[in-house]
Amino acid sequence: MIGKAAELADMAEALRGCERCGLHETRTHVVFGAGSPDAQIMFVGEAPGYNEDVQGQPFVGAAGKLLDELLRDIVGIPRESVYIANVLKCRPPENRDPTAEEIDTCRPFLLRQIEIIAPRIICTLGNFATRTLTDRREGITKLRRKMIRAGIRHVYPMFHPAAALHRGDLYEDVRLDFVTLKQLLDSPDLFRDAAGPEAPQMELF
Ligand code: URA
Repeated sequence: MIGKAAELADMAEALRGCERCGLHETRTHVVFGAGSPDAQIMFVGEAPGYNEDVQGQPFVGAAGKLLDELLRDIVGIPRESVYIANVLKCRPPENRDPTAEEIDTCRPFLLRQIEIIAPRIICTLGNFATRTLTDRREGITKLRRKMIRAGIRHVYPMFHPAAALHRGDLYEDVRLDFVTLKQLLDSPDLFRDAAGPEAPQMELF
């Protein structure tokens, strides 16, 4: 293994027994990121759920299956071509809201994964993921489908696929976030040329 893949594997190995915050007591596995080290698209979820904790892989439960399906059917790419990570690598009990300290403890490892992968676009799935990577504090309902510049990276906030599982009436909105993602990726200039009725606003700060 060489380059990015080796660096990610080393980091995953070093974090295998991580006890930096109290969440280590709640986990079966540290759920490190997974996917292509050369991915152009990175997804950042919030925290592993039960299935992820048991299997040690991100997005392998129902929300992960829906993510795979939307990626394949709308964006036209397989899961293997993207990289998927989480804000937290351990599962908070009952998946309650993580504390600021837990997020801060885990953040450097998420940032390092982003640095290594250097994706063209980072899709943040929900409020915590968006707040962890940008300085925007509005909710996901307000921020979704708007490109946000975060330092040298571009962040695209979306509804978490789990939203559609918990609330069937949100399925069309979740789908629309993927339709717009596909339009952005197909645009000759991802960040200057987005036009048309579905175009997200560019937000710079
Ligand atoms: N939801 C998340 O936010 N992360 C996972 O890994 C799975 C479900």
